[in-house]
Amino acid sequence: MLLVTGGAGFIGANFVLQAIAVTGEPVVNLDKLTYAGNLRNLEALRSDARHAFVRGDVGDRALVRSLLARHRPRAIVHFAAESHVDRSIHGPGEFVQTNVVGTFCLLEEARAYWSGLPEAERRAFRFLHVSTDEVYGSLGAQDPAFTETAPYAPNSPYSASKAGSDHLVRAYHHTYGLPTLTTHCSNNYGPYQLPEKLLPLMIHNALAGKPLPVYGDGQNVRDWLYVLDHCAAIREVLARGRAGDSYHIGGRCEMKNLDVVQLLCAALDEARPRAAGPYAELIGFVADRPGHDRRYAMDITKIGRELGWQPAESFESGLRKTVRWYLEHQAWVHEVTSGAYRDWVETNYSQRDVA
Ligand code: NAD
Ligand code: TYD
Repeated sequence: MLLVTGGAGFIGANFVLQAIAVTGEPVVNLDKLTYAGNLRNLEALRSDARHAFVRGDVGDRALVRSLLARHRPRAIVHFAAESHVDRSIHGPGEFVQTNVVGTFCLLEEARAYWSGLPEAERRAFRFLHVSTDEVYGSLGAQDPAFTETAPYAPNSPYSASKAGSDHLVRAYHHTYGLPTLTTHCSNNYGPYQLPEKLLPLMIHNALAGKPLPVYGDGQNVRDWLYVLDHCAAIREVLARGRAGDSYHIGGRCEMKNLDVVQLLCAALDEARPRAAGPYAELIGFVADRPGHDRRYAMDITKIGRELGWQPAESFESGLRKTVRWYLEHQAWVHEVTSGAYRDWVETNYSQRDVA
């Protein structure tokens, strides 16, 4: 079985749902249920014996130790993290705590567990660490995409804390021989993403007839990947990746934010036409994010060559699926955007004068 951390969040929940559906392998899902975790995402597994949910912190070493001893997983897939750049700017402390200290605690317990396994299980064990393209910092317009040998240059508290965790994972392989794998993925989108990240926030605002707040000049570039493609890539890396290696995952889909929002508006015009006029009329430019990275792009040659993985979804098809999912899951959106979500919107957007 697998021990998954952060499996009630956006990517983790998609991974757990997909992994159980495709392989049938049982999953123990350790998640703290922060503002970003939501058991509703796992509703389809409510009475499925292959899924055991445990509410807890990856930094709780006694809990992690007991879960490892009781369930004896063949691998840990580590998604749990504070994941939102804007929140890291407003409050970096939790990012250091969960992303750096939490990962350290998990590594320590994984090492102790792995050291005590019989030889065959020891050889087969994997610690897969889910990281991001953001640890490499920002690319210039003409630079080639990041390869696995790109130097680290994190610019936000979020990316710095992810970089810190990556370095620990690397060191645990190098020093102790822990069979680690690290994946670096570009921007994900798809079902169950909280409306604090670009695409679901824009969908949510558009449907409510609210302004669509594009940061700065809207020319920042991200490389977009449909979330289930990311999850499939992680399963490939887990199955056949080389211990100690890192693998880049991306959509070969670089786009400027403004173009992304305009395509989204066109998709919404088609799916749910707005009486007052096209959704693009709601687009407005707001003050930029401090330290906003200009461009990310991933070179995915290695994972294609070594593991045969390619993204299956185009941006057009993934966007259409995503828009349909949000239109069909307005109750989910309503639930996650009540309460504390409103405080966040006030914190992040009230100080951004329209440029
Ligand atoms: P998310 O914020 O939606 O979910 C994070 C999950 O981790 C939540 O369920 C939360 O409750 C849980 N969690 C937080 N702190 C915890 C702790 N101390 N102990 C246990 N659980 C805890 O994040 P996401 O977008 O699903 O990202 C998952 C992982 O993928 C992160 O490691 C992130 O850095 C990485 N990543 C995300 C993207 C993206 O576009 N979203 C891209 C590349 C990599
Ligand atoms: P986001 O989804 O927060 O992901 P990340 O910062 O990890 O790339 O943001 C994606 C891009 O969209 C990023 O360049 C910031 C921009 N953005 C906006 O222009 N407006 C918004 O309201 C948000 C949340 C993001």
